[in-house]
Order: sequence, then C-alpha cells, then structure tokens
Amino acid sequence: MELLPLLCLCLLTRSGVTSAQTNGPAPITVEEDRYVMLPCSLSNKEDITSGVFDWKKDGADAFFYANGQHSNTGRGGQIQQFKGRVFHFEDELKHGNASIIITNTKVADSGNYTCYFPKLQPPQTFKIELVVGEYVH
Ligand SMILES: *[C@@H]1O[C@H](CO)[C@@H](O)[C@H](O)[C@H]1NC(C)=O
Ligand SMILES: *[C@@H]1O[C@H](CO)[C@@H](O)[C@H](O)[C@H]1NC(C)=O
Repeated sequence: MELLPLLCLCLLTRSGVTSAQTNGPAPITVEEDRYVMLPCSLSNKEDITSGVFDWKKDGADAFFYANGQHSNTGRGGQIQQFKGRVFHFEDELKHGNASIIITNTKVADSGNYTCYFPKLQPPQTFKIELVVGEYVH
C-alpha cells in the first residue's frame, strides 16, 4: 500500500517526459486538391516588406521573398513541385505576416516546413508540419 503514491508519482513523471518529447505543435492537415495556409508571423509585427523570408520543405526551397521580389517573379530557387502554386499575402507583410498559401495540394506536399528570416537580429525560424491526406472518394 505504501508503494502506491510513489508509483503514481513515477507514472506522472514519465508521462510528462513523454509528452514533452512528442507533442510539438499539431500538424496542419488537409486533403489533396485543396488549398492550405501555412502560418508564419513575427510576434513584434515588424514590417518585412523590404525584408527577406525563405520557406523550405524538408530543406528544399518552397518559396522565397526578398524586398518585393519572390519565387513568382523569378527570384530565388524554387523546386519544380511548387511552381505557380505558392502565394504570399502582400498586404500582410507590413504586419510581419509571412504566411503562405499552397494551392492544389498534393500528398507529396506533406513534410516539415520552415519559415526562416535570415536578416533579422537574431534570425528567426518557425516550423510547421503539413500532412496532405489522400482524398477519400
Ligand atoms: C496572416 O495573413 C493571413 C491572410 O490574410 C491571415 O489569414 C492570418 O490570420 C494572418 N496572421 C496573423 C497572425 O495576423
Ligand atoms: C516531420 O519530421 C518528423 C521528425 O523527423 C518525422 O517523424 C515526420 O514524419 C515528418 N513529417 C512529415 C509529414 O513528413
């Protein structure tokens, strides 16, 4: 009987550790052939219109923006998979909002994305996991 409180404490501690390791932010989930917004905003709402941000999927270039030029104006590298499918919100840049929309989602878009601000002091990186599920007919 005296062991019981100890056992409970032990279980609590263990489950606490487990959840800290596995519970990152929940992934964003969407079906294929939809669109999805990947959020990324600076908490201080600093104007990034003339700044730089870089979205990568598993390390590959998904969308790049620098001072008004971006992937859709031919700036920076962008892997073929995302050509013409990724858009930022021009009017939101002045509020530090670098969120993007991916249109016509594909299962292959699933992955770990980073939104990176290389010119900030210090540089900032946000991580977002996207899971695109097959459309169930
Ligand atoms: C960023 O912009 C998008 C598109 O307008 C909007 O849906 C989202 O709420 C904005 N995020 C923040 C933190 O304001
Ligand atoms: C994101 O990265 C984690 C850890 O490497 C991995 O387990 C997970 O499958 C990745 N998510 C996707 C959607 O690929």
